[in-house]
Amino acid sequence: MSLCIVANWKLNGSREFNQQWALEFFKHFNGDNFSSLGIAPASVYIDHLQGIFNNRGIKIGAQNIDFLETGARTGEISAPMIKDLGCEFSIIGHSERRILFDETNQIICQKLIQANNCSLIPILCLGESDEENQANNTFNVLEKQIIEALTGITELSSLIIAYEPIWAIGSGKIPNPEEINSVHEMIKDVVQSRFPKIGLKSVLYGGSVNFKNASSLFKQKNIDGALIGGASLDGKEFALIANVFNELKVLK
Ligand code: 13P
Repeated sequence: MSLCIVANWKLNGSREFNQQWALEFFKHFNGDNFSSLGIAPASVYIDHLQGIFNNRGIKIGAQNIDFLETGARTGEISAPMIKDLGCEFSIIGHSERRILFDETNQIICQKLIQANNCSLIPILCLGESDEENQANNTFNVLEKQIIEALTGITELSSLIIAYEPIWAIGSGKIPNPEEINSVHEMIKDVVQSRFPKIGLKSVLYGGSVNFKNASSLFKQKNIDGALIGGASLDGKEFALIANVFNELKVLK
């Protein structure tokens, strides 16, 4: 099973946090499909987390990779380095990176190529701003992000897309689940019709996902999972969300 429930810990964590999180998670998770779960900690903790999960099957990934493989790029971390640490995926083009670090769709395209070259599954993040949403421009904005990020990529063996409306991230607000479902359907249509050689595995939703709203999301046909920020920092809540996912999508 592909990655479905993914934690993005952003700029949070410590060794102590990793230990406590794992204890809470294992106390509350009642499934056995560990390979559908992913955690993207800060890169400095990847190795430590790998040790804690010690081949339990949970995938560990990066929150970002550089668009080049090597070079005079102080502070950056490359796809081959992330692969070398045993990671299986990387988040790419998160809106925080687009906004705070000026990542363009063209840079994101280079990062997708880097990930593919190293057999890391890229989780490409897309999303519209509040103003774009209010102006009913969501579809156009997402279509442009998809086309610009994927143009020039002839083949990509696996791709996961995360739809994360910028205004829903960390705000407690989410679009209604039917709307998300139709956005996901549109994303699948655009990728499949324009880029038939790209293996789109799933479309996740991200933005204020928590245990309370998880079931309304996972009941939707085209919501294949979730990319979770704030709520994923609690090992228990992450486990409970994964349990809801199992009930509604896996065991159904
Ligand atoms: P929140 O779940 O905190 O809204 O963050 C979502 C996100 O940005 C995941 O990548």
